[in-house]
Amino acid sequence: MAEIRAISDDVRTSTEPPKRHLISIEDLDREIIERLLATARNFARSLEREMKKLPTLRGRTVVNLFFESSTRTASSFELAAKRLSADVMTIRAVGSSVDKGESLKDTAHTLNAYQPDVIVIRHFQIGAPRLVAEATGAHIVNAGDGKHQHPTQALLDLYTMQEAFGHLAGLQVAIVGDILHSRVARSLVQALRIVDAQATCIGPPALLPRGFGQIGCEVTSDITQIESADVVYVLRMQSERMAAGENFVPSLREYSARWGITPERLRPGQVVMHPGPINRGVEIDARVADSPDSLIEMQVRSGLVVRMAVLYDLLTKGPVSLARPVDLNEVA
Ligand code: CP
Repeated sequence: MAEIRAISDDVRTSTEPPKRHLISIEDLDREIIERLLATARNFARSLEREMKKLPTLRGRTVVNLFFESSTRTASSFELAAKRLSADVMTIRAVGSSVDKGESLKDTAHTLNAYQPDVIVIRHFQIGAPRLVAEATGAHIVNAGDGKHQHPTQALLDLYTMQEAFGHLAGLQVAIVGDILHSRVARSLVQALRIVDAQATCIGPPALLPRGFGQIGCEVTSDITQIESADVVYVLRMQSERMAAGENFVPSLREYSARWGITPERLRPGQVVMHPGPINRGVEIDARVADSPDSLIEMQVRSGLVVRMAVLYDLLTKGPVSLARPVDLNEVA
C-alpha cells in the first residue's frame, strides 16, 4: 500500500502500466521518505569520487519545464539528471513558445512527442503538475506549483536536518516568515509530521493562513517561540504572490525588526535553514546567513543528491518494490 501512495499512481488507461509521480509530500509515507534519504546518502558518497557520473539512467530523458524563476531547483535537477547519465533538456517559459501564447497543455503535448521519461515542472498555478501528468506519458515531479507544494524541497530539508542532527524524530523546527504564500512551509510541515518531528509556524498575523494548524503545526506570531527550536527555518516575503498594493506588513523595516532572524534572537546550538533565495537584512541578518550555524549551503548540496534519488526511484522502481536503498556497486 505504501508503494502505491508513495509516489502517486496515475492510471490513464487499463492497458498502460500505472505511472508514478512525485506531486505532493502528502503522497509519501515514512518508508519511502527513509528510502529516498538513504538513496540520496549513497549518491552523496558517489559524488566524493573523482568520476562523479553514474551510468544508471543512460538512455532516459528528463525534461525540466520551468514556468517560474528558479536557480537551485532547476540547476540541481539538471545536474542530477546529468550525473545519472540521462539526456536532459531544460525549458524556461521565457524564450519558449509560451511567450507566443502556447498553453501548458499544448506545451506538454509537444514535449510528449519526444517521449520523455520524466518531466520536472515548476508552475505558478496550483495543480499544473497534475495537468501535465494527464497530458503526457511521463513520470511527473512537482518542482513547485503556486503556493501549494514543493515536495523535493521538503525532502532535501529533511536530508539536511538528518545529516546535521543524525535523526529526525523529535526535532523541533520553527518556520518563520511568510507562511501564507509558501509552498515550502506547507510541504515541510507535512514532511516533518510524517517523520515525527514538530513544526511551529511563526509570522505576522496576516501571513499566517487560517486553518494551517490543521496540517500539523503550532501557529503563532510570537517570535520568542523560536527559543525551543533545534532548527530555525527562515522564509522570505514572497512578493511575487502578492497583488500590487497588497500589504501584509506595515513595512519591510518593521517586519525585519519584529520577525527578522538576527544573532541576538538565536541561542547557542540552534541551526538556521532557508530554502533561498535569501534577502539579507530583511528576513535574515547577513551575520546569521554567513555563520557556521547556517545550513543554507548544505541545503543546496542536499538538493542535488535528493533529486538524484527521486529521479532514480521513479525510473528504476518497477512493479516490484525497491525495498532498500540503492547499492552503488550494483548501479555503477
Ligand atoms: N528553494 C528553491 O526552490 O529555490 P529556487 O527558486 O532557486 O529553485
